[in-house]
Amino acid sequence: MSFQQKNIVILISGGGSNMAAIAHAAQQQDWDKRFKARIAAVISNQPEAKGLQLAQSLGIATGALNHKAFDSRESFDAALMQLIDGYQPALVVLAGFMRILTPGFVAHYAGRLINIHPSLLPAFPGLHTHQRAIDAGCTEAGATVHQVTAELDHGPMLAQAVVPVLPGDTAEALAARVLVQEHLLYPQAIADWLQSQP
Ligand code: GAR
Repeated sequence: MSFQQKNIVILISGGGSNMAAIAHAAQQQDWDKRFKARIAAVISNQPEAKGLQLAQSLGIATGALNHKAFDSRESFDAALMQLIDGYQPALVVLAGFMRILTPGFVAHYAGRLINIHPSLLPAFPGLHTHQRAIDAGCTEAGATVHQVTAELDHGPMLAQAVVPVLPGDTAEALAARVLVQEHLLYPQAIADWLQSQP
């Protein structure tokens, strides 16, 4: 058993509700004691992201790195890696981080980079997943936690949650139903991942 502190860095772009669910689980389930794990920082590519204020209110260190200040995807990802690596993360958690990652970034965090996507992957990678599930006539939708590989919204699956698509569903209604499950699924998948680590 290792007694090394396991730092978790969470990347967000928006509201940060998954981040908050993870932070609450970490506190309520005492991840510090159980796994020697703590949320070291929440970082956003959107300086105005509401989730940054939310993280601060939860007492978590935050950082912002505006992707618009960089002239290439590679230079942004290099600066982001430097910021993240300042926290020596055991795990980097993408929680509504709406950026396509460079292969160099993905390789740098291989085996310690996970994402949640609001569809039952491999169905509907990419954007507008809820509307696409409705348009395709799916009776079920959901969310997937997966390891991140170079291909967008692919990579080995860690956990899935399924919700029904109801008659007359709008994308917003379905997204809200899926999000409730994301808030349960993602903390559990992270706890399982931490548990599996030496
Ligand atoms: C979540 O539904 C998450 O699955 C999705 O963005 C939302 C973020 O909400 N992620 C993606 O679409 C990534 N491809 P949050 O900021 O409230 O956690």
